[in-house]
Amino acid sequence: MQVSILCKNIDETENLAKRFAKLVKNKGAFVCLYGDVGAGKTAFTKYVCKYLGVKEKVTSPSFVILNEYKTGEIPVYHFDLYRLEKEGISTIINELEEYSEGKILTFVEWAEFSQNALPFERIDININYIDDNKREFIFTPVGDNNIEIINGLKYENTCF
Ligand SMILES: Nc1ncnc2c1ncn2[C@@H]1O[C@H](COP(=O)(O)OP(=O)(O)OP(=O)(O)O)[C@@H](O)[C@H]1O
Ligand SMILES: [Mg+2]
Repeated sequence: MQVSILCKNIDETENLAKRFAKLVKNKGAFVCLYGDVGAGKTAFTKYVCKYLGVKEKVTSPSFVILNEYKTGEIPVYHFDLYRLEKEGISTIINELEEYSEGKILTFVEWAEFSQNALPFERIDININYIDDNKREFIFTPVGDNNIEIINGLKYENTCF
């Protein structure tokens, strides 16, 4: 099962993030973001945080690997594995697993670097660059726990 949503501009991405925030805020989720440099992984994370009421500035944690935002409705943990690449992943893999439990929201940018060591229950989001303003977001639940969330996105299959 997959849900694909085309966002024609950044405002539509914001709206999609708002809907996503509403769907995840009760249970939390472990979310992996895949896509090239500039695809919109951080942009999507930033907008989800906005609608969870996060007050801290949300930026790519490329150098620190992990940012934590504690001011929103649920705690948000924001990883960026780009700098670790494949070799460094083993150093944080146990930690990643811990961030998949409880009522928290975890985002992992460059999740492809964690190979097969990701929590089984998660949401994969692939972001495809179409042109300067357009992006395709493909949501896939992995495991059974997040099917409801992805179904929630399906009922309104545009970003409005
Ligand atoms: N529809 C859209 N959705 C998301 N971002 C968009 C859209 N249109 C334009 N953009 C722009 O694309 C850029 C996405 O950058 P962002 O930092 O989110 O990418 P990233 O995937 O996190 O890259 P990196 O791998 O470097 O972390 C932003 O400047 C954003 O404003
Ligand atoms: Mg980023």
